[in-house]
Amino acid sequence: MKIDILTLFPDMFEGILKESILARAQSSGKVSIALHNIRDFSQDPHKKVDDYGFGGGAGMVLMPQPIYDAIESVRTPQSKVILLTPQGVPYKQQHAYELSQEEHLIFVCGHYEGFDERIRSFVDEELSIGDYVLTGGEIPCMAVVDSVVRLVSGVIEEESHIQDSFHNQLLDYPVYTKPVDFRGMKVPDVLLSGHHENIKKWREEEQLRKTKERRPDLLESR
Ligand code: ADE
Repeated sequence: MKIDILTLFPDMFEGILKESILARAQSSGKVSIALHNIRDFSQDPHKKVDDYGFGGGAGMVLMPQPIYDAIESVRTPQSKVILLTPQGVPYKQQHAYELSQEEHLIFVCGHYEGFDERIRSFVDEELSIGDYVLTGGEIPCMAVVDSVVRLVSGVIEEESHIQDSFHNQLLDYPVYTKPVDFRGMKVPDVLLSGHHENIKKWREEEQLRKTKERRPDLLESR
């Protein structure tokens, strides 16, 4: 999979792309991720990318031209272009599964007060990571890229995906490691029993119990 990230702040991504699973996915060649500075596409002599909004109002508005040109510099017929915005469709694990099957993803990170409405016509999909407003699309983009890349075939063991919270609209079951007794809190006996059928059954029951208790809305949407 190829991922192009269009942003005014490429340095914000340096840390996350160099660590852990995202770093491994790139060094193993499963995923290639490139950062592009939208400012490099400005046609203004001072590299301006924003201006005052028509009709007044607070803050500056990102202009369509630099973003359009940045998208066109990387777009191919296989590309899916995604804009991060609080007005987008609420991002869910199901989107992560679907996006992990794509060949080429282009992410557009908005910043400042807003972007020219016409930018919406250049993208295939708009995603929001939740009902709160961040200073820009960079952190949402990192969340989406991280959740997609771990699902790309061969990046982590497939078995881990099946165990994930939100797979089948259920939360994950509880897991334990050593010691068996920590400050009086014991690992459930069934997990120490070695009885695989009972362990499987217990885990399924725990998934249901936890989901009912914490996220009944997930069960209703099954
Ligand atoms: N940009 C600012 N806030 C956002 C959010 N919640 N989701 C996606 N993009 C954003």
